[in-house]
Amino acid sequence: MILSIETSCDDTCAAVLEPGGRRALSNVVHTQTEHERYGGVVPEVASRAHLERLDGVVEKALADAGAELDQIECVAVTVRPGLIGALLVGLSSAKGLAFARKLPLIPVNHLEGHVAAAYLADRELEPPFVALIASGGHTALYSVTGDGMDLLGQTLDDAAGEALDKGARMLGLGFPGGPAISKAARDGDPSRYGFPVALKEKSNLDFSFSGLKTSLLYKLKALDEDEVWEELPHLAAGYESAVVEALSRKLLRAAELYDAPALVVVGGVAANASLRQRLERECEGLGTKLVVPPPELCTDNAAMIGAAAATTPAVLYPDYLSFNAQSV
Ligand code: KG4
Ligand code: ZN
Repeated sequence: MILSIETSCDDTCAAVLEPGGRRALSNVVHTQTEHERYGGVVPEVASRAHLERLDGVVEKALADAGAELDQIECVAVTVRPGLIGALLVGLSSAKGLAFARKLPLIPVNHLEGHVAAAYLADRELEPPFVALIASGGHTALYSVTGDGMDLLGQTLDDAAGEALDKGARMLGLGFPGGPAISKAARDGDPSRYGFPVALKEKSNLDFSFSGLKTSLLYKLKALDEDEVWEELPHLAAGYESAVVEALSRKLLRAAELYDAPALVVVGGVAANASLRQRLERECEGLGTKLVVPPPELCTDNAAMIGAAAATTPAVLYPDYLSFNAQSV
């Protein structure tokens, strides 16, 4: 069995997976609440909270899986990218657990982990496919083959989730912004206000959301408080649909360019219902397989790190003691 650990940001996570990494026997996520009062993740606070919580989270992952530590055959851990202090807490713990039992250690890239969530959601899935990671921190498109992941395009400014969070804040809605905007948009007309979709005509596969944010800012400036309240569903619907349009347009374009038999969407924004509906409709028409893992596998978790470990080379005991984490 694989024990996996993820501490790259503000979630302290551990999981136990079956050998082969296609089934999680447990998946424990402790989301740190210490950052709420600061309005954003504070790196040093995150490191210290990981340190306090990680042992308990690992114990719970083992207990939930009905596993003992001596049944673990390798330890997988996120080593990049992320908050350096936060990563080091997970890596040190993983090294300790592996070293004490002379086990191999598997250093996993967080983004490869996000994509590997698709293997847990669909155990038949095999490369090649095109994957979109859309979260609060990342928005990127990859071509995934048996040889690894090639970056096809990424955001030039904000991540998609970040754009939704910032838009929601401008509209006076709660956090996280994605679900708050979807809720506000329920009875709205997405075409009442024209929101821009950037890099539309370009043949590249990059994203940009800064123009969308500016467009919302100017629309809000032109309205008084009562009008903003009345127009809220339409503004939210228009803003959400511009994000959905940008993501689906580029993903479908990449699918066409790379002749991809399957598409994968992961990251917190993959929970968006209208993005899912739009892609389901398009993929059905194209006969392309679509894999969108359930929300608990899309947001940060350790099961996805264990799944990625199955296709990542292991570092043998004791060579990993000098292995380091990297922020980028
Ligand atoms: O992957 P994730 O949980 O965390 C990090 O980025 O670290 O992604 C969080 C992002 C937030 O920006 C949030 O607004 C967005 O995912 N999100 C959604 C939905 N649920 C979460 N966006 C659109 N629709 C949703 N239902
Ligand atoms: Zn992540």
